[in-house]
Amino acid sequence: MPIREEAEMAGIYNRRFRSEVQDAGHVAEHEATGSDYGANGYLTKAQADELLAHLGLQTDDLLLDIGSGAGWPGLYLAHRSGCRVVVSDLTVAGMAQARRRATDDGMRTRTTSVVASARHLPFRPDSFDAIVHADVLC
Ligand SMILES: C[S@@+](CC[C@H](N)C(=O)[O-])C[C@H]1O[C@@H](n2cnc3c(N)ncnc32)[C@H](O)[C@@H]1O
Repeated sequence: MPIREEAEMAGIYNRRFRSEVQDAGHVAEHEATGSDYGANGYLTKAQADELLAHLGLQTDDLLLDIGSGAGWPGLYLAHRSGCRVVVSDLTVAGMAQARRRATDDGMRTRTTSVVASARHLPFRPDSFDAIVHADVLC
């Protein structure tokens, strides 16, 4: 994907992750997917629970969620398992929402948010015990 398209993508999703848009969407999100993280895709809470069972995350594990938007599903998986998490996305607004949610859920100290392109992730190889992404390769 050319760089211009990635910038366009960041513009679109930055608008979607603004607080007022997020607030309006929470009711619909809960009805459609069972989650309330400001999700912007199709992964349901039931599917995230399946993912959780497959991953078997432990409290000392570090999870990376790529294209996490407002933190879904990385924050949820970390909340349920007790593991540490890095949520990353192109958008500043999405990462701000994710930090807010992590604080509300009392998991700020084990959450890191990184604004970055998935094309150039600023992490060393083998930094993570598990990596997830939901509705990013679309
Ligand atoms: C459909 S949304 C899904 C967000 C979240 N995973 C969810 O399920 O709610 C796609 C996300 O991928 C991010 N994204 C798209 N291209 C990206 C790229 N090249 N690098 C990092 N994030 C990207 C967008 O900013 C957006 O937040």
